[in-house]
Amino acid sequence: MSNFHDKVIYQAYPKSFKDTNGNGVGDLNGVREKLAYLEDLGVDMLWLNPFYKSPQNDNGYDVADYKSIDPMFGDWDDLDALIREAKAHGIDLMLDMVLNHTSTDHEWFQKALAGDKKYQDFYILRDLQEDGSLPTNWESKFGGKAWSKFGDTDKYYLHLYDVTQADLNWRNPEVREELYKVVNFWLEKGVKGFRFDVINVIGKDEQLKDAEDGVGKSHYTDTPIVHDFIQELNKETFGPYGDIVTVGEMSSTTVENGIKYSNPDREELSMIFSFHHLKVDYKDGEKWTLQPFDFIELKRILNEWQEGMVEGGGWNALFWNNHDQPRANSRFGDVVNYPFETSTMLAQTIHLLRGTPYIYQGEEIGMTNPGFEELDQYVDIETHNAYREMKEKGLSHDEAMEIIQFKSRDNSRTPMQWNDSKHAGFTEGTPWLQVADNHTTINVESRGDSTRIRDYYKQLIKLRKSMPIIQEGAYEMLELEHPSIFAYVREQDGEKLLVLSHFYGEEATFTVPDNLLELEASYLIGNGKERSLDKSFQMGPYETVAFLLK
Ligand code: NOJ
Repeated sequence: MSNFHDKVIYQAYPKSFKDTNGNGVGDLNGVREKLAYLEDLGVDMLWLNPFYKSPQNDNGYDVADYKSIDPMFGDWDDLDALIREAKAHGIDLMLDMVLNHTSTDHEWFQKALAGDKKYQDFYILRDLQEDGSLPTNWESKFGGKAWSKFGDTDKYYLHLYDVTQADLNWRNPEVREELYKVVNFWLEKGVKGFRFDVINVIGKDEQLKDAEDGVGKSHYTDTPIVHDFIQELNKETFGPYGDIVTVGEMSSTTVENGIKYSNPDREELSMIFSFHHLKVDYKDGEKWTLQPFDFIELKRILNEWQEGMVEGGGWNALFWNNHDQPRANSRFGDVVNYPFETSTMLAQTIHLLRGTPYIYQGEEIGMTNPGFEELDQYVDIETHNAYREMKEKGLSHDEAMEIIQFKSRDNSRTPMQWNDSKHAGFTEGTPWLQVADNHTTINVESRGDSTRIRDYYKQLIKLRKSMPIIQEGAYEMLELEHPSIFAYVREQDGEKLLVLSHFYGEEATFTVPDNLLELEASYLIGNGKERSLDKSFQMGPYETVAFLLK
């Protein structure tokens, strides 16, 4: 797939997609069972979150063996069949590569713990500072400090994530060589895509020092050496194949780096995920807070990334949802009064932008946050750490729970809602994470909004495939300061595509610029009744519409 600009990628979270053996955990055979569903939707590639052997402290992002399948998910025959059958459905697989860290259960870490010097140099081990403080003052992204004691030695190991996720020492060429073997192993299996987990934090500073801000991100994020490492990864693994699609998950990155990671001339990655647009409801940049999203800021950020990547020849992954984010429709819309309008409006806003759209399982049927009220309904490690920290800061149980209801990663990890039966057709057993109560109405088989939303997604996917203007057209934002409408124009070969999306529940008006009104407008797609374009264009709640102008 050297040209992937007409493709759409679907993300299945295997643990929650479809269970076929009744153990309450989704599996590879469950994915196989649903390939026809995915083909019908029209997607080209399927990203699967990690299914390798893992103690599951971070749901598989704590990999204990990179070249294995956890029996909970299936075996090699299941995987081979999945790759083969997916191909027959016109779908290629994209696997998740977690190369920044391993589980502390990984053989390398275990050997290191047992005293093997070679493997000790696979990780980032340091002594305490002279005053007895930790090697640096950096924080773990999952709460607490980023260093823990290394066995019964005097050393400490770095973990930017959970204490059971030890950061690898990418400056050691042997580590890189081993990791390239991992990627090549999966390429040989016929995998055609990779999503590289937090790949922009692999290049820690050579000298590790206390951070002025007490957090430390600038000491390991987007450092110059990360680009060298990714170029080498490309050359040593997927690059020579010529048709592999890669996406890097970039934590707190910049447009400037985003361009470097994804401009084809640099031979790094096909595209990147950036997350700034999903922080517009964080108070003072802090996730575990509640405040309404800042719409102008949302537009400003998406605009900056669109313009920047066009200018620098980079490529964006386009997404609202994934397994780390609360459901976007619960976050940016009104799923009670306007479920269909909200879901389709959000979808259209990004599907017609320049970049590659990703659909996270369930968003195509309008799945929402489950609204769990009890702490023990949540499994996610980050959620439990956050609860503890919020309590320590003085929040009451109810206050903390309210925040968790909106912010927990488990909001998107609840099982896929296939039908209205007991566990939504996900499992015959007891699901590892409860199914949302609303599966009785929101499910694949329901004839209501879920079907209408899915049909809309199908149309959007078809449009991308058939219209070069969506794939490659130039991009321009209109009226950035409009308080409720997101408006942009794509342009190619003298044709324009005008997209208008209304993000709120009241009526709103968009004043169409004269230069667009002079052209002949034909209605392309919308989530309300068919419209014609006029100067003072009125929009209903969560309405979205697109016109082709010639
Ligand atoms: C990003 C993954 O998407 C997330 O689920 C995981 O916890 C962290 N990386 C650490 O691997």
